[in-house]
Amino acid sequence: MTPVDLDGTLAHSAQGWREAYGLPLHVTFLPAVRDNLRAFAQVFRDAYPRGSIRYAVKASGHPALLAAVAQGGAGADAASPFEVRCALRAGIPPQAVNVNGNGKEDSLIREAVARDMLLVADSSEELGQAEAVARSLGRQARVLLRLSGFVLGEVTGARILTGGTWSKFGIPIDEIQGLLENLAAFPSLRFQGLHAHIGSQLTRPEPYLAVLGRMVELGLELKARTGSCPILNLGGGFPVNYLDGPAWDALRRRLAARDGFGWNGTTGGLRAGADGVLDASRWHGTAFHSPWPKAEMLRAVLQGRVRVEGRALGAREALASLGEPELMVEPGRSIVEDAGITLCTVVQVRRAATVHNLVTVDMGVTSHADALLEGGGNRWQLLGGAAESEPFETFIAGNLCFSGDLLTPFKTSLHRRPRRGDTLVLRDTGAYSGHFLASNANAFPRPARILVEGDGGITVMKLRDRFQDLFSQ
Ligand SMILES: Cc1ncc(COP(=O)(O)O)c(C=O)c1O
Repeated sequence: MTPVDLDGTLAHSAQGWREAYGLPLHVTFLPAVRDNLRAFAQVFRDAYPRGSIRYAVKASGHPALLAAVAQGGAGADAASPFEVRCALRAGIPPQAVNVNGNGKEDSLIREAVARDMLLVADSSEELGQAEAVARSLGRQARVLLRLSGFVLGEVTGARILTGGTWSKFGIPIDEIQGLLENLAAFPSLRFQGLHAHIGSQLTRPEPYLAVLGRMVELGLELKARTGSCPILNLGGGFPVNYLDGPAWDALRRRLAARDGFGWNGTTGGLRAGADGVLDASRWHGTAFHSPWPKAEMLRAVLQGRVRVEGRALGAREALASLGEPELMVEPGRSIVEDAGITLCTVVQVRRAATVHNLVTVDMGVTSHADALLEGGGNRWQLLGGAAESEPFETFIAGNLCFSGDLLTPFKTSLHRRPRRGDTLVLRDTGAYSGHFLASNANAFPRPARILVEGDGGITVMKLRDRFQDLFSQ
């Protein structure tokens, strides 16, 4: 669960932050980021010393955050020119930067090749572009082939599944054979290995193991053709526990009971069987809990079994059969999500559909993308005040002018009835949620984002927008 301390210290700090930066406010605690990085490094030390971490900058990027990443011995996975700039500014060497993305402009490919970054090629079309750029620079480009098209079933929410058949990312696995036979068409590219990012918030090791087995098979083929396959990259996707086990079970039980726990009858990820009864044991979409959170998923994968050319092997045995390539991972969410919280203010407490409590706050889904993209399983807590005998069960709505602007599709439980002006804390928002859909909808300013050190020192990642930031003269 969140390593962020939510006692009186936070209430005290929150008052100071509110005055200095205004609410809503996104806060990331750097010591928690460091702990998460250390945990991944430890798993590699224990189970596969040839492992390496490339932190996915898209989860949350700022040179100060990335400096902590660099100090933790990790490189970066960058997917835009500014993400690359962030990583380099933080002191991450270009050779430790992966350049990902399905729409790289020539200028980005050029920078990657000129500075010897590792280009993760998303398509055979991109290989042609990279070949032309590398040739024009008179250089050899280091390239991984990104794979997709794996038939894995429903392993996470459709919006964050990237390695499946219907994907805008990667080279379909069915086409890779033809490509491997045609590598000579790209004399300026040095094929270093294979990449797959299955998706985000993967709560079971099986999809990783299925993909790893296939990657080892293809790696053997690449090695047979080029003489080497020094890198396999398994991408990110390591899950975070938004809810602990009992809370996750309770959420599904409440939804299955159809007792008004879901907004307007929604049943979240539960579906009804032919008998019309909701199956609480099976969740469709993004899950809010995994028995293998964060680095523990990497450990489970390295201790798991894969199939290589019909043979069942331990994952490490399979990697050994390929000559122990460097095993890269690109964790994003699992490094920063539980290091972050969002603070906002209660503006109204009222009723919806006559009988349900509804709290409205001073931000919308543009400041909490998880609610729109991933189902909004995050926990909420109210700062201050004594607990009442009955918890206050409520939906929480945003302040934007559209009905889908709900921050909780399920009722959340607060320790007392909130009042206008109270501060609400939204947990586990360090990755994506605060900035991914950040916009000026309704001309609201985008909130500030700050990084907090162990000693309370602050780096402002982004100041709250002012009028002139929204409206150019
Ligand atoms: C190529 C790639 N690598 C890594 C990640 C990070 O994934 P996660 O935050 O789930 O660890 C992403 C996320 O979209 C990605 O697209």
